[in-house]
Amino acid sequence: MRKHIAITRVEGRASRQAHADLPDGTFERELGKEGFFGPATMMYHTHPPTGWTQWQGPLRPRAYDLTKLGPLGPSPWDAGAVLANAKLKMRFWRCAEAMDHLARNADGDELVFVHRGRGDLYCDYGHLAVGQGDYLVLPRSTMWRLEPAEAMELLLIECTNGSYMLPEKGLVGGHAIFDPAMLDAPRIDDEFRAQQGERETRVVVKRQGALSTVTYPFNPLDAVGWHGDLSVVRLNVKDIRPLASHRYHLPPSAHTTFVGDRFVVCTFVPRPFETDPGAIKVPFFHNNDDYDEVIFYHDGDFFSRDNIHPGMVTWHPCGFTHGPHPKALQRMYAQAKPMTDEYAVMIDARDALEAGEAAMSVELAGYAESWRTEGPVTPPSVPKAAE
Ligand SMILES: [Fe+2]
Repeated sequence: MRKHIAITRVEGRASRQAHADLPDGTFERELGKEGFFGPATMMYHTHPPTGWTQWQGPLRPRAYDLTKLGPLGPSPWDAGAVLANAKLKMRFWRCAEAMDHLARNADGDELVFVHRGRGDLYCDYGHLAVGQGDYLVLPRSTMWRLEPAEAMELLLIECTNGSYMLPEKGLVGGHAIFDPAMLDAPRIDDEFRAQQGERETRVVVKRQGALSTVTYPFNPLDAVGWHGDLSVVRLNVKDIRPLASHRYHLPPSAHTTFVGDRFVVCTFVPRPFETDPGAIKVPFFHNNDDYDEVIFYHDGDFFSRDNIHPGMVTWHPCGFTHGPHPKALQRMYAQAKPMTDEYAVMIDARDALEAGEAAMSVELAGYAESWRTEGPVTPPSVPKAAE
């Protein structure tokens, strides 16, 4: 039996409700354990916790512009290494032409996110048309190939030696956020039958990071049917109906879509801003002290970040506080628009990540300095509620 060491105390000038009614002239910072599920303290500061002027040493916030990656080769195994640890491998790939082989990842489940383009997926389970904003969960060792109709850009996230699962939805029940009935599976349809035949087919298998090729004198995607509860599944980001509260800025964990082994994948999709006058309308400053946080920006206008465009990745390792850029802070209590307009994929990893070669080749210099301002930043005051 073990239990967190946790106390609840209100010390000095503090709000008793996290993320709302901050003491005048303060910025709020959450110091928290276990993602957003463990002991946590909200601290009220007179300076923005991202007001640093210099960084020395290897730890720092990092940003990578994956749109600047050069040619990446015709196989998913040519995808560029972005970030990895022993539990997950995040890679980025462009697929412009039909794959001339089947891929099979024996190291773990693969989550494919279609950033751009559309096409057809052919796999053990059949055929599925796929397009922008689709997540595809490919169970470990599924044989698959893509035939793009429009050049595709894909984020690949391997759950190394593990399986993707769905999060517990607790109080809101199983049909909230997205209904499991929204998950699509491939079909044994005419297109699938049409690609079957006696042509020689290579299967390129990855196991322990090494590639092996198995050649068949026929196409092994030759199933005529199947039954069971294991399959490739597809979910589009537009099928997600996010949790929102008009009185409370929910933590990113409310947007969890898939749970890996010692990491989670969350999706940010458009949602209404909070309307309670005292509720903050930008992400609160926080040090997510047990996790490295990665965000892949897919589409829209990223309301808490300056100078970020689709196809970029930011990585905020554990060890410092992160939070909104100074311009976004001015809208802490009053947003100009009724809704956010952003689509992003976030990975929260329990173990330290390392940058891969591809990411390092397109790193944005000066990202750590992007919170810098000319003069001091004064916190906006909590608007007085109408009498
Ligand atoms: Fe964060």
